[in-house]
Amino acid sequence: MIRVLKFQDVYASYGSVLALQGVSLKVAEGEVVALLGANGAGKSSTLRTISGLLRPSKGIVEFEGRRIDRTAPERIVQMGISQVPEGRQTFTELTVIENLRLGAYTRRDGRAVKQDLERVYTYFPVLAERRRQQAGLLSGGEQQMLAIGRALMAKPRLLLLDEPSLGLAPILVREIFEIIGKISKEEGLAILVVEQDASLALGIASHGYVLETGTVALHDTADNLKKSDSVRRAYLE
Ligand SMILES: Nc1ncnc2c1ncn2[C@@H]1O[C@H](COP(=O)(O)OP(=O)(O)O)[C@@H](O)[C@H]1O
Ligand SMILES: [Mg+2]
Repeated sequence: MIRVLKFQDVYASYGSVLALQGVSLKVAEGEVVALLGANGAGKSSTLRTISGLLRPSKGIVEFEGRRIDRTAPERIVQMGISQVPEGRQTFTELTVIENLRLGAYTRRDGRAVKQDLERVYTYFPVLAERRRQQAGLLSGGEQQMLAIGRALMAKPRLLLLDEPSLGLAPILVREIFEIIGKISKEEGLAILVVEQDASLALGIASHGYVLETGTVALHDTADNLKKSDSVRRAYLE
């Protein structure tokens, strides 16, 4: 298995608030990995540290064997890591297609960008139907699809998703998770997904980590985590 991400004994803080206290995790090519845990456990901080928005005070972050823990966020995107932040954040004044093209703004391979646009439309047909509409007019679920589509337009090899289900109707959430699973399979894309709804994330993940106050409390296969009493009690019931 080719290792895409190695996150080793990472510490990070916001001023005096210690958010990560020695977190270690790994993601391999083509794998969906779930990052679970209660509010404030450090899930978003883990993603922010990977994408360079939060500087670790200690520890190692490697992407495809290269250190990135001192690399600027823009460079990390260019290297092949895209993040869909919590709360999606599309450009509401711009159209769907403009948002998608922005995802590819650092790319020079115009023809491949066009193909990738078509590919995003295949995964999310509703975005093709609404390509000329302002993003602000889309429903919450469609905006989440747009945010994921925009991240895919950068042609990442590691996709970071922060709570894609937040505030969406359950039926839409299931659809989005099915598509995320499909994208990973078809593209061999590594995905690290943060999710409050553990059963959803574990439904498409091969393994998962449970964070508790900035440390990894549990790491196991998705099947074992689904069966684990403590995970069931805390996140599945
Ligand atoms: N911008 C910030 N400034 C100060 N503290 C923060 C900030 N963001 C997060 N924290 C703190 O860091 C810890 C981890 O937060 P976070 O990574 O957002 O957790 P999660 O995503 O698991 O809910 C929490 O104690 C939280 O209050
Ligand atoms: Mg969070």
